[in-house]
Amino acid sequence: MSDQAKSVADSSPSAPTPAPQPGSASPASMPSAKAEVAFDIQDLSIFYGKTQAIKNVHLQIPAMSVTAIIGPSGCGKSTALRALNRMHELTPGARHTGKILMKGEDLYGPHVDATVVRRRVGMVFQKSNPFPTLSISENVLVGLRLNGVRDKAFLNQRLEESLRMSALWDEVKDSLNRPGTSLSGGQQQRLCIARALAVRPEILLMDEPCSALDPIATAKVEELIHALKSQYTVVIVTHNMQQAARVSENTAFFYMGSLIEFGPTEQIFMNPKNPQTEAYVSGRFG
Ligand SMILES: Nc1ncnc2c1ncn2[C@@H]1O[C@H](COP(=O)(O)OP(=O)(O)O)[C@@H](O)[C@H]1O
Ligand SMILES: [Mg+2]
Repeated sequence: MSDQAKSVADSSPSAPTPAPQPGSASPASMPSAKAEVAFDIQDLSIFYGKTQAIKNVHLQIPAMSVTAIIGPSGCGKSTALRALNRMHELTPGARHTGKILMKGEDLYGPHVDATVVRRRVGMVFQKSNPFPTLSISENVLVGLRLNGVRDKAFLNQRLEESLRMSALWDEVKDSLNRPGTSLSGGQQQRLCIARALAVRPEILLMDEPCSALDPIATAKVEELIHALKSQYTVVIVTHNMQQAARVSENTAFFYMGSLIEFGPTEQIFMNPKNPQTEAYVSGRFG
């Protein structure tokens, strides 16, 4: 199974769970949502064999907001992201030291099931690849189906909700039985986002989700990220600094496996504290 298929399979709940609906959480029920920490990364190092890809990273990723990870190619962005839903474990020879707490709980604790983690933490990949043999609707529902959800009314409802959340419903509602691969590149990426959302993860990880998209499709995905952040924690890797500036509240700058600087996006771009961050955001290296 590909990593992507594995991620979809793992992210499938065994039974329908109530979906967090837009606007359904009253302000009183989540008074300090903005201040909550989604991931508390403590002294994280990640190795591929003898290569150290992530070096002693400490980072607290806030819940219910968008965090961008930026940095030059090969600096460890994807590796760091994949550690957050234990996908890096699928790479032979990969190992880590240090700790990641997710909402206070040790993500790699002895009693924590990686498949449950991947259910709670969804992933959207750089290259959209809908399952080629599946229709638009079956691409969205594949995770639920793999885990035996059969209730037709529930599946139909989840299908529409997920496609609406990913801003694709109006474009595909009359052609749900067409192959997922018949859609444009930008639509396919939104289809993959709908697929990730269909199992209602708590957190959405996105690894350069727009790198293969044209500017119009990119704008749609960015609007979608904006809309999601009231309900979701989103962590997005991007090599596009304008994109990081547009979509995120906080930005982490990585360089050669180290976290160089983390802070409010505006500060990272307008007033970085570290000279390496300054050099990178001003385009002097990269
Ligand atoms: N599967 C792998 N096996 C061995 N080395 C890897 C693997 N994936 C990534 N790396 C190495 O880890 C480092 C970080 O890679 P990556 O996380 O993909 O960086 P980025 O996403 O910032 O481009 C690089 O030196 C890369 O060559
Ligand atoms: Mg990468």
